[in-house]
Amino acid sequence: MFNNKTINKFRSLATPFYYYDLETLNDTLNSLLINSDSDNFKIHYALKANANNKILEIIKHNGIGADCVSGNEIKKAVETGFNPSDIVFAGVGKSDEEIITGINTGISCFNCESLQELQTINELAKGNNNIINVALRINPNIDAKSHYYITTGLKENKFGISQNELNEIINNLSNFNSLKLTGLHFHIGSQITNFEVFKSLCIRINEMQRWFTDMGIFFEHINVGGGLGVDYVNVNKNPIPNFKEYFNIFKELLEIHSGQSVYFELGRSIVANCGSLISKVLYIKKGTTTKFVILDAGMTELIRPALYQSYHKIENLSSEGTKEIYDVVGPICETSDIFGKAVSLPFTHRDDLIVIRSTGAYGEVMSLSYNLRDKAKHHYSDELK
Ligand SMILES: Cc1ncc(COP(=O)(O)O)c(C=O)c1O
Repeated sequence: MFNNKTINKFRSLATPFYYYDLETLNDTLNSLLINSDSDNFKIHYALKANANNKILEIIKHNGIGADCVSGNEIKKAVETGFNPSDIVFAGVGKSDEEIITGINTGISCFNCESLQELQTINELAKGNNNIINVALRINPNIDAKSHYYITTGLKENKFGISQNELNEIINNLSNFNSLKLTGLHFHIGSQITNFEVFKSLCIRINEMQRWFTDMGIFFEHINVGGGLGVDYVNVNKNPIPNFKEYFNIFKELLEIHSGQSVYFELGRSIVANCGSLISKVLYIKKGTTTKFVILDAGMTELIRPALYQSYHKIENLSSEGTKEIYDVVGPICETSDIFGKAVSLPFTHRDDLIVIRSTGAYGEVMSLSYNLRDKAKHHYSDELK
């Protein structure tokens, strides 16, 4: 993945830094677009996965829309040049200010999660002459079979509308004079690698849609959310997710009505594997039972392992010695600041360059200033040629 020329360039840069391989990003986007090619499919990229300027520009340039979960993400999408008509807005707790941002921007749809949220958007939209498009985000009670903290579609999760509240919403629909119900939305979790989960989702969406149709309620679009997982283990072998199999499931199983669009809100699967975190070894330390590699990058640059015990492949770019077992940790004053336990690495020295792979999604965008750390820079493959 990293040739000697790139590694030599890395040596001249201050660490830690995020590195983006634009060739991998472009190859991923090509595969995404080829496999989703269908008149009624529309992709909205989930900005929450990575809102780096250049990454966003490339994604926008490919004609993809934006899925935002905050007022600031809406502003960022507009600044990047996304057309408001290609922006959707999700989130379980939209503030009044964020709703007003969405209304004034003229975004295409608010994905709503509760009766009170619909009432609030309806009230805030009254002064505005436009009718606001809304979709109902349903909690389908489907297990994403992913980490519990990135599962969003179970009935105990805070996300989506439950069947109890749905009945109340339908009874109130005629009171929402400033809203137009245009869509049905689902998002059941992230890093989903078991494709059976997406099949179950299609079946559940079909049931829900029939339920609405029986009541005379029709939707212009069905939003199936994001969630497609990536291969964090065999990154070199499978840098690009299996978009073909993923989209085929929806083509084959989802009942799509005439004139209806299907929205996808993919984040991780588009950007995860184009990103790496490059770090330097500060110290090798002998513990009582463990040998530690202490890096200059920590949970402040990549919080996923500390937050969800996520796996990231770790490689030493400077050494090819015999293998040793290390715990690879960061410098932050938290015991959870661990990138990997019992990692097999070539014999590692102070100042070796270490790469943590697949950090393009939920890496830089989740960075923290904890311990008053400086913000890590980013570099792109086209700059380092
Ligand atoms: C509403 C919504 N849509 C889309 C996404 C993107 O998910 P992923 O990055 O797994 O594709 C998320 C992330 O959890 C989300 O909350």
